[in-house]
Amino acid sequence: MTVATAVAHPNIALVKYWGKRDLERNLPAVSSLSLTLDGFRTETTVQRGAEVDVVRFGGRDASDKERRRTLAFLDRLEPGRPAVVVDTANTFPTGAGLASSASGFAALVLAYEAARGGDLDRVRLSRLAREGSGSACRSLWGGFVLWRRGEAADGSDSHGQPVAAHPSLDLALLVAVVTTEGKAVGSTEGMERSRLSSPLWETWVAQAESDVDAGLAALQAGDLAVLGRVMESSTLKMHAAMMTSDPPLLYWQPGTVALLHAVWRLRASGVPCWCTMDAGPQVKVLCPRGVAAEVAEALRPHAQVVHVLGPGPDASVRVG
Ligand code: PMV
Repeated sequence: MTVATAVAHPNIALVKYWGKRDLERNLPAVSSLSLTLDGFRTETTVQRGAEVDVVRFGGRDASDKERRRTLAFLDRLEPGRPAVVVDTANTFPTGAGLASSASGFAALVLAYEAARGGDLDRVRLSRLAREGSGSACRSLWGGFVLWRRGEAADGSDSHGQPVAAHPSLDLALLVAVVTTEGKAVGSTEGMERSRLSSPLWETWVAQAESDVDAGLAALQAGDLAVLGRVMESSTLKMHAAMMTSDPPLLYWQPGTVALLHAVWRLRASGVPCWCTMDAGPQVKVLCPRGVAAEVAEALRPHAQVVHVLGPGPDASVRVG
């Protein structure tokens, strides 16, 4: 029996991932670029070797769905594995629009592989985490992470890799929570719906790689205005593909629109800030750390709560 505990942080895509070219292996139709966050984290302990499988989320027994997803993933990592005890907890509110599956699968793969005494090569771990949830492959590293879609059918070239940003970029990422109600349509189902029915699908895919390259170049040049514009454009193209799916996927609520206008008003008044959204109603805002308090103030009247976060560290693990 070996025990290992891993910590991983959620990430938010600046250039978005939406759509799969392989459902089984979670291979993406497009490349993406993300920022791993501080403040919020998932901590997961795995005991490899037990009488029966036990899965606990936040100190309580996991739901059937959570348990099935966790154990199926471990069966994939090690067919014929011994029984395990998995204890996982998020320090952030669920439903905050921060994909807990990203930090969740990154922490799970890291803890399981350490408990198993496997080799902890990050690229390999990233590929494995991707099979649990696509965006999880970006949470192995802190800071900015690039996930190239790759071409190989087995997914060997589809994993995260850390990207160095220009040292002048000192950024904050704010999360404005509109509602914590669960989302109606999960990302896997939503992506397939968009791929199969949105008339904008081909355009979305065709523009994604140049958006990633423009985002990367802006990061390396320290050009926040270009990075912000690329991020908003990628977000709105993704949501346009969602909205034009059949049946339509409108993740926005009235509060989402109010927040977008608040950010655009603020920017028109000279404060540098740009929005992104995921498969939910929350609005995330990227800005220099120096104006984060002012941006938070402008968002608060339209949000339940505003979290002010920044770039976070690599995922980490300890054995024993
Ligand atoms: O990894 P998933 O299946 O939770 O998909 C994440 C998709 C978005 O959050 C909408 C975009 C992204 O790149 O994280």
